[in-house]
Formats: sequence, structure tokens, C-alpha cells
Amino acid sequence: MKDQDLEALLQDLSVEEKVYQLIQYQGANYSDDAVLTGLLDQNHITPHELGMAGSTLCIWGADKLKKIQDAAMAIQPHHIPMLFMLDVIHGHRTVFPCPLALGATFSPELVEECAAVAAREAAAEGIHVTFAPMADLVRDARWGRCMESTGEDPYLNGRMAAAMVRGFQGDDLRNPDHIAACVKHFAGYGAAVAGMDYQNVELSEHTLREYYLPAYQAGIEAGAKMVMTGFHTYNGLPCTGNAWLMRDILRGEMGFDGVLISDYCAVNEMVSHGLCEDLRDAARVAMENGVDIDMEGRSYAAALIGLVEDGTIPMARLDEAVRRVLKLKNALGLFEDPYHGASETQAKAVVRTEEHRALARRAVTQSLVLLKNDDAILPLRPGKIAFIGPYLEDADLRSAWSFSGEAADNRSVRAAVKAQAVRAGWEVRFSQGSTLLDNGTRHALGVYRNDDFLLENQRLCAEAVELARWADTVVLCLGEHRLQTGEAASRVWLRLPEVQQKLFSAVAAENPRIAVLLFSGRPLVLGEMAEQAKAVLACWMPGTEGGDGIVDVLSGSVSPSGKVTMAFPFAEGQEPMCYNGYSTGRPQVPGGPSEYTSRYLDCPNAPRYPFGYGLSYTTFTLSEVSLSAKQMTKKEMITVHAKLENTGTVAGTEVVQLYLQDLVGSRVRPVKALKGFQKVSLQPGERVDVQFTITEEMLRFYTARNRFESEPGVFRVYVGTDSSVEEYLEFRLVEEG
Ligand code: GLC
Repeated sequence: MKDQDLEALLQDLSVEEKVYQLIQYQGANYSDDAVLTGLLDQNHITPHELGMAGSTLCIWGADKLKKIQDAAMAIQPHHIPMLFMLDVIHGHRTVFPCPLALGATFSPELVEECAAVAAREAAAEGIHVTFAPMADLVRDARWGRCMESTGEDPYLNGRMAAAMVRGFQGDDLRNPDHIAACVKHFAGYGAAVAGMDYQNVELSEHTLREYYLPAYQAGIEAGAKMVMTGFHTYNGLPCTGNAWLMRDILRGEMGFDGVLISDYCAVNEMVSHGLCEDLRDAARVAMENGVDIDMEGRSYAAALIGLVEDGTIPMARLDEAVRRVLKLKNALGLFEDPYHGASETQAKAVVRTEEHRALARRAVTQSLVLLKNDDAILPLRPGKIAFIGPYLEDADLRSAWSFSGEAADNRSVRAAVKAQAVRAGWEVRFSQGSTLLDNGTRHALGVYRNDDFLLENQRLCAEAVELARWADTVVLCLGEHRLQTGEAASRVWLRLPEVQQKLFSAVAAENPRIAVLLFSGRPLVLGEMAEQAKAVLACWMPGTEGGDGIVDVLSGSVSPSGKVTMAFPFAEGQEPMCYNGYSTGRPQVPGGPSEYTSRYLDCPNAPRYPFGYGLSYTTFTLSEVSLSAKQMTKKEMITVHAKLENTGTVAGTEVVQLYLQDLVGSRVRPVKALKGFQKVSLQPGERVDVQFTITEEMLRFYTARNRFESEPGVFRVYVGTDSSVEEYLEFRLVEEG
């Protein structure tokens, strides 16, 4: 539809029609098999209201949504099509590794491909908008939603958020293979106090700008059509009612003119927050702060017509919100094709194709992080191998945010091992070893209870010990439950369940040659297991092709190349942690005094595994790091050179990382900041020159003058294979001559 026709349509709408374009009822009101991602308000909604609503969420299926669309458009006086939205966070029916794992690939290109496939599958099943990318920076592994983030670094998160937006949206949303992206949760949701979900966020404006805003901005600059508010308060105001965040920063500084949607019930939750007295007040505040769509909140449904009719909310503000929603529908081509090309035929043609599964398998192999590999126990050589653990049989290797995937589509580690054992020369035996959870453990959707827990685990453990005695090597498949991560899944203890720790100890007492496959949605505290196991491979929540991708790496068909994107602590008490914090006035200096310095008495400052860390089956050396100049003006650039060599005996891939440090600033500066990375694959003995270009733009920050700019002075350049790199070179940024 032409813009002028869209405007004419807007002006022709009644107040009721306009308001209902801003209302989003939960999908369960339209279909029994919708997924609930929050509590469902049981207040009955009439069919008329359901048909008048501008959008719904959490249902998918071509025929189902086409029927809902037809019914809604028949009720709509102007036959305006609905928007169908869903959390397609890391895949639709082909489920990719969770975002924390996708980040570990350090491959924005691969992540863009995965998002494009997710969009193709979701669009074929009737989805128009995904509530992704989640661009929240995370530093606290107690927070359950780390799994949805790509980690602790602003630059990596920005590259990944932009890649996902490009993958989801493509060049033209009218293309039936693409869906609109929604950057969330604006802003700073990952910094919830004490890692407790929905909690307050206490960040200075400077910290918010330095670390948390860049990734949202990158997603918006990549063209994201929607942004979602966070549940939390910032500066004493819920995001959904926070004019500074929503109007000054999002609309003003970032220039975002797309649709702003609240998170689930976040509008009416401003009453619980204590900002608003009732739903009418909440609707007023949200509208005044630029929230266009009220997700399942019922505030707009309860009060917005009255607020407009009594002049509390000007018609111009209502029109501004409705115009954005209609423009999004128009960008998707819904006025010409309300189904956006969805059909059961199309869905059958694109869902979980061999090509999609092959991509998912490749994503798994690139997301696995080899944390330890003593005696080169991996890849597994031919011989007797015992595969043991509660994750062995579990085919449901999806994260908590992959509703539309199905466990039945996945091959478990066990099934994948059986498929490859002969070719790999493995004589294999299997044992569950233990239950996944301790009895009485709470997870996000309930409590695990097992009346036979003790006897069952005694039996399972004894069987596992027998197998360990028989085997040359043991592979232990351990981890946290998928529902122990995700929303409302904060935890204070980040260790493996006690029953799994007992299994590990019993097996290790019998056979020390153990490789652990670690399944988790966050960094865990590994304790003795990390000391005693010969190898640890972080597998995260690997998705549909998890089993096969993992075995590809275990067999050596693919050398692991993933890198940690969120530090693994030694202890929960270290959280929150990050590599790119500030020096403090009393930093611990290698070889310097420890008394009266910034440190813990009972734990190292450093994480067990830092950002950017990950091993390969081969070895690499970085050498001859050089700078093309010792100084540069703001108009000049400096080229960084480094030699990377594969000094091992097998092919492998390394991620060369560029970090900069601004030694002196009008505000203190991070001790390191990732500014570039290159993923390089080399054959044994191969040696290449890796180059980076340093530009003045990379040196900018939010200065004490409250401007985003660079300042003259000395900078350190670190080129390494993880964030603990210590060697550096220096250059000076000088004023123009
Ligand atoms: C949830 C999440 C948000 C999600 C939304 C819709 O509460 O916070 O990330 O997109 O509801 O499912």
C-alpha cells in the first residue's frame, strides 16, 4: 500500500479501531496449543475483541494462522490484517545452538545464515515478527537468561545482533522468507541486581552507555523494525514508563522510529512496580513514553479508548503509535497478502530440510568450546569407550527458548555415537549413570520429584562404574537441566547437581581418563571436576543437531574452534564478572604486592576460563605483532600485523582477537576492549599474516563532556587468542598537526 493510502486508512479509523491495533492478546486466546511465556490473565475476552486486536503471539502453523487471520479481518471494519509474533530466538523447527553458543562461534556470517533459516521456516508457518535478537549484555551467570545472550562483550554482541537482524529481515520484508526482528530488552536487562530475573538494574549512565547500549544500537542500525522494553526498573523507573530511555535515548539519540512493544504484561506491571495506581494510569504512562503495543497487558484494552476520548492522550500520540504498527504491516506486504506467503505446502518444503539440518550441525561444531584437553585425550582414538551420563539419552538438547522445535526431531548423543562408532573405530557401551537433577530441585516450571531417587541412582552409578572399569576412555555427558536456564531461572549455586558430582567422583575413582561433555545455558562453577577431568567440552544447549555435531568434534572430523563469550568463574561469589572492567586505583599487578590491592582473599580475581578462550586439536602461535605507525591523527589509521601459524599436526581454526586500552581518559577506561576479531583456518605448518585496521572511530567513548568522541593520548594494542593476553604495543592519538 502506498504511504498516502496508509495515511488515509489511518485517518479513516475509529478510535476503537486505532486502540485495538495497539493491543496484543496472548495466543492461547486464539488457539489451544499456543505456548505461554508468562502468566495468562483468565479474564474472558470476547471474539469481537480478539478479532479487533492488531496482533497476537506464541502460536504458529500456516493453516491455523490463516484461519485466525481470516476471522480477524472479517471482524475488522477496515479488514486490517493481524501481526503474528513468536520468540524465534535461535531457530524455529530447526533449532540452532542457543545464542550464548552462537556467540561462541565468533562468526557473524554463520549466525546470519542461521537467522535466515529460522526466518524462512517461521515465515512459512505464518510468523511475521520474531522477538529477537536479545541484545542484553550479561556478566552474571546467576541470571537464567545468559543463555539467550551472546555474552559479556559489547562489540561481539553488537556484531551478532546486527547479523541476526540481517538474517531475519533480509533486504525486503515483503519476501515470504523474511520476518521482522525485534531488539530486546531495552535497556540493560542483563544487569539485574544479584542476577535475579526482573530485578532492578543499578547502572550509571556511563556504564549503561559504555557497555550495555552498543548492542541494541547495532541491531537498530541494522534495521530492526521493533524494540521491546525490559521488565526492570532503571533510575527508579520501569523501562516501560521511562521517558529518558524510551524517548531521549531510543527515539532521540538512536533515531529508532519503529514499533516499540512492551514485554509480556510489562505495562500493567507498572502497578506492581509502584509507579502507577491502576491500569488506566499504566496505560497513560506507557503511551506517554512511546510504547506502541501493550503485550498481553490488558492496560490499553482497559483504558486507552477512555484516555483518548477524555483528551488525556492526544489523538496525535495515538496516531503516532498506530501509524508505526500499520507501517510495519505494510512493510511486510500484509495488505496485499495477509498470509505473507505462508502455506502448509511451503512449510513442508522448508521445515527441517537436509540443508537446514546441515547448517545446524555446522553451527554446533563451531559453537563447542574445548576448555581443557590434557594428554590430548580428544579427539577420541579407536578403542573401548564408555559413554555415561544423564545427557546421553536426552534428545531434548534445545534451550528453554525454542518452543517450536521438537525433541523428537533431535538425535541424542547416544544415537549419534552409534551412527559414527564403527567409522571412528570405537567399541562403545552406554549407561545413564545418574538422574539429571537432585530430588526436589526446582526449575523454571516446577519441582523435580523422584520417590525412587536414591535406589535408582545407586543402581545407575554402580552400572556406570562397571563400564568405567571396562573402558579405555570415559565420556561423561553432564549438565544443568534446560529448564534451569532461561526466564525466571536465576540460581545462586552454579554447580552441577550433587547426584552428577557423585557420579563423576565414582567414575573418576575407577578410570581417570574422562572427557566431560558439559551441557548448560550459562557458565557453571566446575570445581574439582575441572581439575580431575582430562578434557572438558562446553556443549551449551546445542539444539536439533546437537548429538551429531558433538560427535563430529569427538571423532576429530571437525576441530573445535569455539571461544568463551562469558567467563567461567571459580566461584559464584565472583559474579558478576567481566574481562573489560576498570583498573581500580590498586590493581593487582603481576609480580607486584598483593596486600592492599583489589582482590579476594579466598579466590583468584581471574575467571577459570576468560572471555575469548578456547582450545583446538592443534596448536597455534601468534608472533611478529607490529603497528604501521607509532602515532595517528583522527583522520589517519594504523594497521596492525600479526603472524599466525598452525604449529600442530592437524588442521584447525583460531580466532585472533584485537583489544585496545585507552590509558588515560576524561573518564576511566576499560583495561581492555575487544575491537576486532578474525577467524582463521590453517593447515598444519601454514602461516599467515593477520591484519587489523585501527580507526579513530574505534577510540571513541562517552567522555566527561557527555559526548561520544575520542581523546588524544596513548593507547595499548593487544593481539591475542583470548582476553588474558598481556603483551602489547603502544601508539599515540595526536591532535591534527
Ligand atoms: C517473555 C520474555 C520476552 C519474550 C516475551 C514473549 O516474558 O521476557 O523475551 O519475547 O515474553 O514471549
